[in-house]
Amino acid sequence: MNVLVTGGAGYIGSHAVKYLQEKAGHQVVVVDNLSRGHRRAVKGEAILIVHELADWKHVARVMTNNQIECVMHFAAKAYVGESVERPLDYYSNNTADAVALLRAMDQAGVRKFVFSSTCATYGEPSDEHIPIGETCPQRPISPYGRSKLFVEQILRDYAASCGDFQYAMLRYFNVAGSDPNGEIGEDHDPETHLIPIILQAAAGLRPHIEIFGTDYATPDGTCVRDYVHVEDLIDAHMVAMEALTTDHPLVYNLGIGKGYSVREIIESARRVTGKAITIKEGPRRPGDPPRLFANPAKIKSDLGWQAKHTDIDDIVRTAWTWIQNHPHGYNGE
Ligand SMILES: NC(=O)c1ccc[n+]([C@@H]2O[C@H](COP(=O)([O-])OP(=O)(O)OC[C@H]3O[C@@H](n4cnc5c(N)ncnc54)[C@H](O)[C@@H]3O)[C@@H](O)[C@H]2O)c1
Repeated sequence: MNVLVTGGAGYIGSHAVKYLQEKAGHQVVVVDNLSRGHRRAVKGEAILIVHELADWKHVARVMTNNQIECVMHFAAKAYVGESVERPLDYYSNNTADAVALLRAMDQAGVRKFVFSSTCATYGEPSDEHIPIGETCPQRPISPYGRSKLFVEQILRDYAASCGDFQYAMLRYFNVAGSDPNGEIGEDHDPETHLIPIILQAAAGLRPHIEIFGTDYATPDGTCVRDYVHVEDLIDAHMVAMEALTTDHPLVYNLGIGKGYSVREIIESARRVTGKAITIKEGPRRPGDPPRLFANPAKIKSDLGWQAKHTDIDDIVRTAWTWIQNHPHGYNGE
């Protein structure tokens, strides 16, 4: 299939670009404005078009010229804190640009769409909704989460209006790890994700890591999250793409179904790297729920997907391989 990957120069999108080609022989075109991505992350024969999604007429021409059959939409801004400070950037980039992308698809006659949604659309679920299934009420607490939930609603309205649109909305939990051979990986500036931050501390690239809150009602007092390996996540996208149907949207939570605490991740990083990691204990951050992890049963029973990387050391090891090979990210290559 000819697949357009938006955000294919970013962390998750670059893994999609690689695996769509290597694992399934798809032809890939990337549209990315490189605002947060890296040209060098786009591997294989994929064509990289550096452009804004907002320019939907151009994007429609890209789709037509390359006979695109399916769009995987990863492009977004994805920092919760930044979204609170600059909400208009998030509604413009994540919501309005998704509308522009749908316009381009409409114009070019592309009918298959896989959308990167997020567990942030659930906000802070109460205990009875954990592990989090797809029917958990969606009450996001940040502009980031809302910018994504709006796209889910827009997709439903658009699909209802045309009848032949096939789409998946995949709500990711914490995506982690990297391609096991260390060729591509996570390179954000600033980095806000726990595993790369801990590994940067292990590699001596930052002096310490700070734990935000040690008095939560969790076994060791630190927050518990569901870390899904990026390779598993992309496998789920490929399975979903093959299963798309006009009958109904495919809506799935993507996680491993269990959570690891911040302290457990630090212990894992110490085991995997053999390095000392200095920690500082700080206060809680607003809007950090104590426990968030998925119930991934629906995608397993419907499509047969389940995460293969469930051991945290295995996940951390792949991220460590990337950091060892690229301590300064793509710019250090
Ligand atoms: N990383 C996670 O743990 C996580 C969790 C849940 C959901 N998600 C979602 O997954 C997707 C990918 O996340 P990521 O961590 O790979 O982010 P990333 O920042 O590494 O990649 C995003 C890419 O999109 C590009 N981009 C952004 N806005 C664009 C625009 N308007 N036009 C063209 N290109 C644009 C950026 O340059 C970048 O290359 C995002 O939609 C994010 O919301 C990520």
